[in-house]
Amino acid sequence: MKIGILTGGGDCPGLNAVVRGVTKAAVRRGWEVLGLRDGFRGLVENDAVHMGDGDVSGILVRGGTVLGTSNTANPFRYTLPPLGSCDKPRDLSKQAFKNFKDLGLDALVAIGGDGTLTMAGQLYRRGMPVVGVPKTIDNDLSATDVTFGFDSALQVATEAVDRLHTTAESHNRVMIVETMGRYAGWIALRAGLAGGGDIILLPEIPYRAQDIVKAVADRKARGKKFSIVVVAEGARPEKGEMTVTKVVKGSPDPLRLGGVSYKIADILEKSGVGLETRVVVLGHVQRGGSPTPFDRWLATGFGVTAAELVAKKKFGHMVSFRDYGFTSVKISQAVGKLRRVSPGSQEVRTALAVGTSFGNSRLAR
Ligand code: F6P
Repeated sequence: MKIGILTGGGDCPGLNAVVRGVTKAAVRRGWEVLGLRDGFRGLVENDAVHMGDGDVSGILVRGGTVLGTSNTANPFRYTLPPLGSCDKPRDLSKQAFKNFKDLGLDALVAIGGDGTLTMAGQLYRRGMPVVGVPKTIDNDLSATDVTFGFDSALQVATEAVDRLHTTAESHNRVMIVETMGRYAGWIALRAGLAGGGDIILLPEIPYRAQDIVKAVADRKARGKKFSIVVVAEGARPEKGEMTVTKVVKGSPDPLRLGGVSYKIADILEKSGVGLETRVVVLGHVQRGGSPTPFDRWLATGFGVTAAELVAKKKFGHMVSFRDYGFTSVKISQAVGKLRRVSPGSQEVRTALAVGTSFGNSRLAR
C-alpha cells in the first residue's frame, strides 16, 4: 500500500500533527507514504517526497505545514505557472490522475478546508480513492463539531483581548480587536466570551451603528470609561455589505475580508461619545505558531482515523469529530454548507445574559 498526503488551502496550527498522525499510523501498517508538496500543485506537477517515521519526528508541536500549501492550486482550474495562468485556468485533472498512477499511489489523504475538500470530492467522483481531513481556524465546516486550528486561533485572539483590557482601562479608550473567521463569527464570539468583550460583532448578527454607540455610552454612564469591541472580519451593518480588502484570483473563494474595525472606530469617533478609539487587526498571527494541546490531540486523532478509513477503503469520506468521538462522513455531505453562529443559540444568549452587546438592540428583545 502506498498513500499520498497533501495539505491545501490556508495553513493552520495542527496540520503537521495530522501529517504525523497519518504517516506514523501508515508506517506501522507497513505502508509507504509520499508527501505531495504545496497542496494539489504536488499532484498536478508530480512533486512528491518520501515520508518516513524520521521525517515526521518532532513536527507535532510545529505550526504551519512541512508539506507546504496553496490556496489556488486547483487541478480542475489550474492557474499556477508554468502549467497554468490566472487569465486562462486549465483543467489538469487528467494530469493529476496520471501522476497518481505514475507515483504508484493507492490512496490520497487530502487535508484542507471547504475548497480543498470540494476538489477532493470531485477527484473521488472521477475515480480517485480519496480520504479527507477537515481543517480551518474558522470552525465553519458543517459536518464536524470542531476543526483543528480553531482552538489555537482562539487562544491567540483571547490573549489579545486580555492584553487589550489593561491598556484600554489605563487610557479610558475603546479598543477594537478584529479577528479572522471569514463568514462565520466563531473566533470573535468565543474570544469575546472568554475575554469578557463588551461588544461582539458577528457576520451572523448585522450591527446597527446607533446600538454600538449606545452600548459604549451606557458603559461610560455607569463609570466604565473603557470598552473592548471584538469584531469578526465578516461583520457587516444591517443595511450593508462585508468589508472586502482584496480579491485573490484563482482562489476557490477569492474574497479576502478585513478592515471593518476601522469603520467601527470611525462610527465611535464621530458619535460624540468622547472616548478615543484604537484598532488592532490580528490577521495571520491567529494562524501562526504552535498548536494548543487540544489541537494537537484533535489533529492526531484525525490523522490516525484517516489512516483507518484508508485501511477500510472508506473512500470519498472525511474524518469528523462528533459528540466527543472520531467518526466519518461522506465528503459530498460535508462541503458547501457552512456552520455559522445561530443568533438564537445558547452561546449568544449566554453572552447577552452577562451584559454583552452584539451591536443590535433588536436581538435582545
Ligand atoms: O479560512 C481561514 C482564513 O484565515 C480566514 O479566517 C481568512 O479570512 C482567510 O483565511 C485569509 O486568507 P489568506 O491567508 O489567503 O489571506
